[in-house]
Amino acid sequence: MSDVGVRPYDERGMFMAAKRPAKNSGAKVATAKRPAPATKTQPIDEGKLMAFVEKALGDFGSAASAALVVIGDKLGLYKAMADGKPVNSQELASRTKTTERYVREWLINQAASGIVEYDSATQRYRLPPEQAVALTDETSPAYVVGGYQAFMAMCRALPRISENFVTGAGMPWGEHDPDLFVGVERFFRPGYLANLVDTWIPALDGVQAKLKAGAQVADVGCGHGASTIIMAKAFPKSQFYGFDTHAPSIEHAREAARKAGVAERVTFEVADARGFPDHQYDLVAFFDCLHDMGDPVGALRRTRATMADDGTVLLVEPAAGETVEGNFNPVGRIYSAASVLCCTPNAVATGSLALGTVATDDALREVATAGGFTRFRRVLASPFNRFFEIRP
Ligand SMILES: C[S@@+](CC[C@H](N)C(=O)[O-])C[C@H]1O[C@@H](n2cnc3c(N)ncnc32)[C@H](O)[C@@H]1O
Repeated sequence: MSDVGVRPYDERGMFMAAKRPAKNSGAKVATAKRPAPATKTQPIDEGKLMAFVEKALGDFGSAASAALVVIGDKLGLYKAMADGKPVNSQELASRTKTTERYVREWLINQAASGIVEYDSATQRYRLPPEQAVALTDETSPAYVVGGYQAFMAMCRALPRISENFVTGAGMPWGEHDPDLFVGVERFFRPGYLANLVDTWIPALDGVQAKLKAGAQVADVGCGHGASTIIMAKAFPKSQFYGFDTHAPSIEHAREAARKAGVAERVTFEVADARGFPDHQYDLVAFFDCLHDMGDPVGALRRTRATMADDGTVLLVEPAAGETVEGNFNPVGRIYSAASVLCCTPNAVATGSLALGTVATDDALREVATAGGFTRFRRVLASPFNRFFEIRP
């Protein structure tokens, strides 16, 4: 790298200095004693600075467009384009009973975001089939809308989360915008549908055979019960129990079980992981929730106490590195953000051990050992998750 472009940073260079108030305007001007910004004492590489600003622009654009993806989902704009036929803003607005003036701007953003394609000759937009799957097919493992919805919901807690940085307070799961509960289900459910019965359960020693024959299964921190219901449908001889501290989620799960026709074999109950009812379970599952709990050791102790001696814990946790730098990738970026905005605040609000969303295998093993288990092994990994088998 040449020295050209390396110079002490001067506020007047890249960014416009704040306007000074006019003389005698009455406004106070901060003078003299302000400490010099640290950047003034360090040499700045302008090339690197511009590269970072460009990257930030991309990030800023992604965040801005995320809000528009949620709008497109909520108003049925993607579904109305899912047939792949080119439309203009008038046609899309009339199909979706929305206002053309807004739809026109939305379409420009969607084309600039690489979501829809634009044909300048006809001035029409088209949703390619791949994007249609990712944005409208809730059963596809490629479905991504839940992620956008969950993150936009978390962002609504921004003022409170920033304050928590200062006060050290937590924020319980149930106090987030309700879109979080729906978004999380929509984010995880496609993966459960595609893998839980055919890949994850068979990876556990002897568990599939037990479930086929008839077993007692607990799904702790079950949320809307997507995983519980998928398992119940696949293993008709087994009995399932879903537990969660969030009462509206349990209500939602009960309704979903009724609709799925499995309510007779699935019981959903409001219960804390530290005190859920004992049915001497053959399998206790934690799907993306142990790290949300403020007392994960207490949760596993309760699990051990309510489990048959040859029972198994299926622990599903977010993908994470074994070192800090092992999280410096797109998935680590997403999960460490969720950790700040949602998971760690709930753990802080409900106990004294906040594992964080990107807890290492070793940290999880320690919790399992402290909870009274002796065997702990990672059985699988996917781009989004790690899967552990824990046994007495
Ligand atoms: C990220 S969500 C995952 C929900 C669900 N397992 C899924 O995969 O969709 C975390 C869930 O853990 C629940 N939770 C957090 N702490 C809990 C506790 N101590 N006992 C029971 N549930 C808890 C929350 O209410 C929330 O529903």
